[in-house]
Amino acid sequence: MKIAISGKGGVGKTTIMALLAHHLKKTFKEVLVIDADPSPHMAQTLGIEDPEKVTAIADMKEMLRERSGYTDGSPFYNINPAIDDLPGRFMLEKDGIKLMVLGAIQTGNKGCACAENTVLKRLLTKLLLKADQAVLLDMEAGVEHLGRGTIAGVDHLLVVVIPSKSSARTALKIQKLAQDVSIPKISFVGNSISSPDDVSFLESMLNATLLTTFPDAQEIRLAERRGTAITTLASTFAEALQKITDAVGQ
Ligand SMILES: Nc1ncnc2c1ncn2[C@@H]1O[C@H](COP(=O)(O)OP(=O)(O)OP(=O)(O)O)[C@@H](O)[C@H]1O
Ligand SMILES: [Mg+2]
Repeated sequence: MKIAISGKGGVGKTTIMALLAHHLKKTFKEVLVIDADPSPHMAQTLGIEDPEKVTAIADMKEMLRERSGYTDGSPFYNINPAIDDLPGRFMLEKDGIKLMVLGAIQTGNKGCACAENTVLKRLLTKLLLKADQAVLLDMEAGVEHLGRGTIAGVDHLLVVVIPSKSSARTALKIQKLAQDVSIPKISFVGNSISSPDDVSFLESMLNATLLTTFPDAQEIRLAERRGTAITTLASTFAEALQKITDAVGQ
């Protein structure tokens, strides 16, 4: 199962992905989180002490090259990595959750991280999963990178929205782009919800029902400020997380 998360900046993508990673350990034997944000933040959110220890995208390209029998000029068509097959030096592990950080991508003249995105796209589309493995992809905010096909090969896209017009508008753009690249399932997840009005506002803006909602929660703010792992709060939000689990498992 490959799940990606998207949404406007700061709506809670990384927070919800970290909570979900923890919750999915109940259902899946192996959970791999891929941090594809150029300003990666997942390691801190998971409570990993030395996030800089992981080897990021630049070296992953080397690894993929090794594995694909790459010769100059030929793209990485032969990559078929399985999760258990990916070398440990590209992973951090915390409480049974594996994390791969793509890292700060060096952008070229036009500010496009195309080569790296190509590698990511290939990795995601070719990553072989067993039924008991889940891959969660945390992405940067916005919509531009989606057009580059970063989410191709994803089974289910979660689009996080907070109760604001701008967040809902971004969510609609993301939905459209995800439909264009034929993501099989797209769900809206409400975050920082304080009232039933927030839900009805979002559902009418999106013209869709929210899969589930997370409340505006002081515990989340405090965990972030203290630098404690957000995963310790997963049981508090078990109901919402189970709804996502049920939906992605279908
Ligand atoms: N439900 C919530 N209640 C209170 N605070 C929250 C909630 N969800 C997220 N936050 C806080 O909002 C901030 C942004 O959250 P987070 O980093 O998960 O968003 P993001 O969408 O991943 O941001 P970015 O676009 O920068 O990657 C964090 O400080 C987080 O602790
Ligand atoms: Mg984030």
